[in-house]
Amino acid sequence: MKILEDRIRQDGTVLPGNVLKVDNFLNHQIDPQLMDQMGAEFARHFKDAGITKVLTVESSGIAPAVMAGLHLQVPVIFARKHKSLTLQDNLYTAKVYSYTKQVNNDISIDRRFLSPEDRVLIVDDFLANGQAVQGLFDIAATAGITVAGVGVVIEKRFQKGHQMVVDAGVPLVALASIASFADGQVIFAQD
Ligand code: G4P
Repeated sequence: MKILEDRIRQDGTVLPGNVLKVDNFLNHQIDPQLMDQMGAEFARHFKDAGITKVLTVESSGIAPAVMAGLHLQVPVIFARKHKSLTLQDNLYTAKVYSYTKQVNNDISIDRRFLSPEDRVLIVDDFLANGQAVQGLFDIAATAGITVAGVGVVIEKRFQKGHQMVVDAGVPLVALASIASFADGQVIFAQD
C-alpha cells in the first residue's frame, strides 16, 4: 500500500535490533484517516472470504482491527493480556511469548464471543516472529473456528512470522512488507 510505505519512509525510524518505530502514526499516536484507509484495504482483500469476526490482541492491534471490522461490517474481538474483574473464567487462553519484551503473556478471549461457525480474520499491527498470530491460531483451534485470513499492517518478512502463516496455509495480506533494514533505511519487499 503505497500511502503506508510513503508514511513509513517519512515518519518511521529504524532502531537497533531491527525494530521499526512508528509510534507517531500507528501504535501510540494514531492517524485515524490512514487507519481508515488501511481498514478499507483489508476489507477489499477479504470481502469474499465470508469473514464473520475480526480477531486481534490488545493493544496495538485494536485500531487496525476496528477499522477492518468497520469496513467488513463484522464485530471485532480483542484478546486480553490481563484478566479483568469481568473476565475471570469461561475463557479460551493461549500463551504468547514476546521476543521484543521477553515476557510470556497469557491471552484470553471469552468463550461467549466465538462459535464454531465463525470464520475469522486475524488483524495485527506487526507480524514479526508471529507469536501473537500463533496464539490466536491456538485459540481458534481450541474453539473449532476457521481462520480465513491474516491481515497485518507491517510485516518484517525476514523474521519467522511470515513463513509460519504461509506454512499454515492461511491467506496473508501485509499492507507493507519489509524485506530488510540497511543502514537505517527500510527496504520494502518487491511483490
Ligand atoms: P509478533 O509481533 O509477530 O508476535 O512477534 P514478536 O514476539 O517479535 O513481537 C513482540 C511485540 O513487539 C509485539 O507487540 C509486536 O507488535 C512488537 N514488534 C515486533 N517488531 C516490531 C517493530 O519492528 N516495531 C514495533 N514498533 N513493534 C514491533 P506486543 O507485545 O503484542 O505489544 P502491543 O504493542 O500490541 O501491546
